[in-house]
Amino acid sequence: MQISPLDPFGAEITGIDLAGDVDITAIQDAWYAHQVLVFRDQSLSQDDQLRFTSRLGPMGISRNTITDAGPSGEATQPGIMWVTNLRRGDGSAYGQPHGGEMWFHSDMCYAEKPYTATILYAIELPALGGATRFADMYGAYEALPGETKQRIEGKSVVQVHEYHRLERPSPEAERPDALQFAHPAVIVHPETGRKALFVNRLMSASVVGMEADESEALLEELFDRSEDPAKILSHNWRPGDLVMWDNRCTIHGRADFPETARRILRRTTVIGERPS
Ligand SMILES: [Fe+2]
Repeated sequence: MQISPLDPFGAEITGIDLAGDVDITAIQDAWYAHQVLVFRDQSLSQDDQLRFTSRLGPMGISRNTITDAGPSGEATQPGIMWVTNLRRGDGSAYGQPHGGEMWFHSDMCYAEKPYTATILYAIELPALGGATRFADMYGAYEALPGETKQRIEGKSVVQVHEYHRLERPSPEAERPDALQFAHPAVIVHPETGRKALFVNRLMSASVVGMEADESEALLEELFDRSEDPAKILSHNWRPGDLVMWDNRCTIHGRADFPETARRILRRTTVIGERPS
């Protein structure tokens, strides 16, 4: 297994077949060190991907588990979520409807126990666009001015899921049914012991105990700093790529792609503990 660091963070891993019997500790060590791992030229069935994922911890099972045929025609195994803009013949989505640009977020941050890992395997891709963009949230925290670090010290932020792609969460009164949970604005990664900023533009609604205007201004500052264009890792997908990222210390978003293009990726996840 060779580890080649990517710019400005992340690593590409070669010399490994994830369908085989892999050294999971070596992979986890590389993942903790690099936050995002890119494995190229894989050929994985759903079972292969589920087997690899289950070795990393308890698997996330989508609340909208669908076991009928997915966009690639095969029946969907529990634990698999399709990330695709394609729809069935009757117009219904294969899971959450996934098309076009999507703001930065952290998967399942609105739950008490968010996903630690998201594992995404590329099957069919647009010729242009649809890159996944990652930001390093250790670096984002470390780069904050001392005064801002003090302002967010001990603060919690309400994280909300509303199926938006490019909108701030609605005011609290307008989202009674949305899934939401308040987590610390800064969390300590349980494996690395490093502090990471735990907010994102798509899902972080408000700072607990702060007036709305002040909360929004502070969050905007944190979003802008974490999305510093000079520090973004942009992953341009190729079929057979498997990318595994850590939602505790990275956020990710999607670049736009043409509505008419076909994009099919297969997602599995690992559930963690409540962040602190
Ligand atoms: Fe996501």
